[in-house]
Amino acid sequence: MSYPLSVTPRTLMGPGPSSVHPRVLQAMALPCIGHLDPDFIGIMDRIQVMLREVMMTDNELTIPVSGTGSAGMEAALCNLIEPADRCVVCINGVFGNRMADVCGRYGGEVVEVTAPWGEPVDPADVQDALRGSKTKLVGIVHAETSTGVLQPLDEISRLTHEAGALLVVDCVTSLGGHPVKVDEWGIDACYSGTQKCLSIPPGLAPVSFSPAGVAAMDSRTTKVANWYLDMTMVRSYWGSDRTYHHTAPVNALYGFHEGLSLILEEGLEARWARHKANHELLVAGLAEMGLAMLPAPEYRLWSLNAVCIPDGVNDVAVRKRLLNEYNIEIGGGLGELKGKIWRIGLMGHSSTPNNVITLLGALKAILQ
Ligand SMILES: Cc1ncc(COP(=O)(O)O)c(C=O)c1O
Repeated sequence: MSYPLSVTPRTLMGPGPSSVHPRVLQAMALPCIGHLDPDFIGIMDRIQVMLREVMMTDNELTIPVSGTGSAGMEAALCNLIEPADRCVVCINGVFGNRMADVCGRYGGEVVEVTAPWGEPVDPADVQDALRGSKTKLVGIVHAETSTGVLQPLDEISRLTHEAGALLVVDCVTSLGGHPVKVDEWGIDACYSGTQKCLSIPPGLAPVSFSPAGVAAMDSRTTKVANWYLDMTMVRSYWGSDRTYHHTAPVNALYGFHEGLSLILEEGLEARWARHKANHELLVAGLAEMGLAMLPAPEYRLWSLNAVCIPDGVNDVAVRKRLLNEYNIEIGGGLGELKGKIWRIGLMGHSSTPNNVITLLGALKAILQ
């Protein structure tokens, strides 16, 4: 049997993936070459240069991990944690929970700092958790995709470093849509995913480690418990040694290269301004329809809009009609917010006034 492939194009306005620019798709269709071909090595070099610019860092160890955002999360944590290390993990949604789970699996002694879903984590609670025994790292989600909350990081970064700990930040849903200033904010390990505001198909996870993060890896007394994500080996593959570690996903990296080029052509500031403007357009339109947002205005993500579902409205039925009648994908709530919110993504190439207006019109027609 053979099954010719056919895919209905959608307007992707969910929690990811976001729509992909045709130039990225064209780049991914270029001929596959060997991953140690001199041409490909040039591509790997340019990727690292561009990624540092997008992550606003001079960190040498700044690379895309072969795997989705969760692989980036594991890479950040498994390289820093040794058994019995104390890890303070901030949890105000699904992805903080995932971080705590991963820390525990690598032998970390997890101390949870929680906040209600829909609210940011309070730095005073992090400060309390940092009292007592020596903490190895503080893990926190910058953009909590399950709740639409943007987490301010400056105060938490200061407290973390005062306690002599490392700051690990999940910027899966912020990188490329919101400012993510790795060096200025003192982030020691940062990870993201390609399929959100970078608007590149899923499959790669940009990561960056500060000199302190690298020093922590270099002074380990135990082996990293994950062979595939062990940065002491992976960095030799991406560095000047080019020691074979695994076969890089060649065509995915072509797409990554082109996606980063598009971001830098637009300019980071202009890209953040576009995300902010389209978020504001959406929120104003939703307010006119009587729909409220879950997070308070000062903590709202521009990239992921968490909208409260009005009483009496059937979550699944509305999303089904959006998809079937208008070809628009939005997301439902996760965990304790299932059935309570819609998650409307305005990420990367999907963040356009045209998409906002079309979605508002479709939602209005359905809700009426
Ligand atoms: C904040 C956050 N962290 C981690 C992940 C995991 O990424 P992936 O699904 O690409 O493995 C996601 C995915 O939605 C996310 O939104």
